Amino acid sequence: MKLAVVGGGSTYTPELIDGFARLRDTLPIAELVLIDPATERLELIGALARRIFAKQGHPGRVTTTADLDAGVEGADAVLIQLRIGGQAARLQDETWPLECGCVGQETTGAGGLAKALRTVPVVLDIAERVRRASPDAWIIDFTNPVGIVTRALLRAGHKAVGLCNVAIGFQRKFAALLDLTPSDIHLDHVGLNHLTWELGVRKGGPDGEDLLPGLLAEHGAAVAEDLRLPRALLDRLGVVPSYYLRYFYAHDAVVRELGGKPSRAAEVAAMEKELLGLYADPSLDEKPELLAKRGGAFYSEAAVDLAAALLGDGGPGPASVQVVNALNNGTLPFLPDDAVIEVQARVDRSGPVPLAVPRLEPLYAGLVAHVTAYEDLALDAAVRGGRERVFKALLAHPLVGQFDLAQGLTDRLLAHNKEHLAWA
Ligand code: G6P
Ligand code: MN
Repeated sequence: MKLAVVGGGSTYTPELIDGFARLRDTLPIAELVLIDPATERLELIGALARRIFAKQGHPGRVTTTADLDAGVEGADAVLIQLRIGGQAARLQDETWPLECGCVGQETTGAGGLAKALRTVPVVLDIAERVRRASPDAWIIDFTNPVGIVTRALLRAGHKAVGLCNVAIGFQRKFAALLDLTPSDIHLDHVGLNHLTWELGVRKGGPDGEDLLPGLLAEHGAAVAEDLRLPRALLDRLGVVPSYYLRYFYAHDAVVRELGGKPSRAAEVAAMEKELLGLYADPSLDEKPELLAKRGGAFYSEAAVDLAAALLGDGGPGPASVQVVNALNNGTLPFLPDDAVIEVQARVDRSGPVPLAVPRLEPLYAGLVAHVTAYEDLALDAAVRGGRERVFKALLAHPLVGQFDLAQGLTDRLLAHNKEHLAWA
């Protein structure tokens, strides 16, 4: 099997390589191509990847290239993990919305829109080239904002699935708290990417006993602390929101907090510098501890599971069930069929099919519908460009909503992203 990683020169890549090496029986990779225009960094990461594979006795070959078309040629799956403008652009996304009293975050709110505008055209171009070089390849999209990017890919007819590590993170966390193995935990995970709630934590499978009430009673304090949300909120909802819901449920408090401390982008930039120093050491042959301080924990394991299911031999045996970003197709009846939702899905060679989900109460359905409408407008702005489309997407966002605010944010977004937006 040949796998290609677009953005393979990312400081995150050793996380992925570590998962590929450990889980080689699940996903037998013969050739792994790391693709990145930043050739110096790519060579550093490529060499470390080879050392990690060698240490773990992985027989696969790791190659590197800056040539996208050549790199994806003949690939069975192409992972896309890139960040247009790097941490510098992220720093902007996290900063200028604060000037308007709005949350500054890389995927949520106005910063997330800026990221979508920069990213969607680039990923669509890459996907088109993948389709030309390797028409049957699956595209696994890790590129944020995953919901909007996946919707763009599916709308353009690509064989694509969006992936995020929030669900697998909860699965691992809950398994540890309940003293179970992660595969014993099935999450009733419902919503949109970075806007989800765990409505149930089931033992054994989708019809298993719901352990969530007991989990909240016994470990509610630990779960709440981790999410930095009040325990009383979890208890009163009786569900577990993802930590991205903090930007909604505690918006103003987060804005105050962000105003008084260095941005996440600055923290990550410092970590990246340190990581690159570590990677350059030829005796390093495993992912360093420091990488665990990034948000991407377990993303390699989610990627292995998904690629293994998409590229499986199609023989008998249960298809794999996992949380992905896929077409709604009636799963959440109050959303359009072509919305992209993040839920448990059965995945095999023909792609993901969402499992039925519990009815979503208005308390959650309202926000999901609201953000879906924003995502629709955001995608329109990303594909067609134009100040007015940007303004309307912002006006539609539940964290913006007001005319003056949407105007101020539009001005700032465009001013800070001129070099990335051909039409601005
Ligand atoms: C989580 C999210 C990712 C996001 C990452 C940011 O993993 O699911 O979508 O990219 O956090 O982590 P960072 O270390 O860059 O802040
Ligand atoms: Mn994510």
